[in-house]
Amino acid sequence: MIFPKENIMPSKTLFSEGAVLELSKEVMPFGSKGLIVHGRSLEKNGYLERIIKSFSPEASVRTYMAACGEPVLCHIADVIESARSYKADWIAGIGGGSVLDLAKAAAGLFNAKEDPVFYQEGGTLEEAGIPFIAVPTTAGTGSEATINSVIINEEKQVKLSIRDNSFLARTVILDPELLIGLPKDVLVYAGMDALVQAYESYISRNATWFSEMLALKAVNLINDNIVKAYKKSDISSLKEMLLGSYFAGVAFASSRLGVIHGLAHPLGVIYNLPHGLICSACFLPAIKINKDTIGEKYNIISEAIGKDLIARVEDLLNICKIGAPFEGKELANKIDVINAVLSSGSTAANPKTILVEDVEIMLSALFKKQ
Ligand SMILES: [Fe+2]
Repeated sequence: MIFPKENIMPSKTLFSEGAVLELSKEVMPFGSKGLIVHGRSLEKNGYLERIIKSFSPEASVRTYMAACGEPVLCHIADVIESARSYKADWIAGIGGGSVLDLAKAAAGLFNAKEDPVFYQEGGTLEEAGIPFIAVPTTAGTGSEATINSVIINEEKQVKLSIRDNSFLARTVILDPELLIGLPKDVLVYAGMDALVQAYESYISRNATWFSEMLALKAVNLINDNIVKAYKKSDISSLKEMLLGSYFAGVAFASSRLGVIHGLAHPLGVIYNLPHGLICSACFLPAIKINKDTIGEKYNIISEAIGKDLIARVEDLLNICKIGAPFEGKELANKIDVINAVLSSGSTAANPKTILVEDVEIMLSALFKKQ
């Protein structure tokens, strides 16, 4: 297939150094009152103040600092409450994937009749929300390009998407300057998440020429720049990482992902570790599981990165000092994890049909005794 049956991607993307200061101009068509959802670092590095100062006196902007960690359902309700009481016309998310997912869900559910959990459990959204503007500050999740908002349901101990076509960002602003000063671990975990997403999209059973081209370019951009960004954090490598992450997001928005994400979500809920770290840990076991099924695609990726894929991923884990977070640990709820992997929408897109024994092989590799 050349093109997916349905493709949805942001209609406007700004990509330049300092582009975040265009936010004030970009949101004006949506209305004069807005809520900026952001992470802690945006305030610390002074960018939040600069962004607010860039708005004209006619505009009215409020800010909402997202809680640390990945969003849970009650966080969404809280942002919605803030935005409704303020009668916001738009919501901008400026942050990593968790901040973007939080802001995206809050904007999307602004006019919703039910609580967020209703939509996470498959309920149909009655009415679109208000415009969402996405400004990533990590090169990682690709959330700026997708209609998904990944949210933890603490009561049921699951991590599931809330999604609707209306959730898509109206404008995406890619500004590599926002990535300057990111802690090394945040940078590489996000970068590895992006690399995993590009890999999973490229080999997905739903892949099309369109998604493959973007995914392979994303593999190249991230592979060529992740080590440079880790060692020097220079603007040119951050710029290419940000673009690679965005391309991966556009690619997997139509192709979906694979078993790495099928497994990363339940493990993420149990162990409360960074998503990118878990994806990094699952990467090698999943490559080995899929290698025979994907055939020539394995060689194409290896050729694109200039080294055998398994060897290159081993190198990246070593160079970027990404540890094995599950080694030596006991997995208490193995059956629940296996069931979550097998019922995951990501796993359904994996090129090899994943069986119980495949998940057990991956878990044995992850939880091996030291
Ligand atoms: Fe991911």
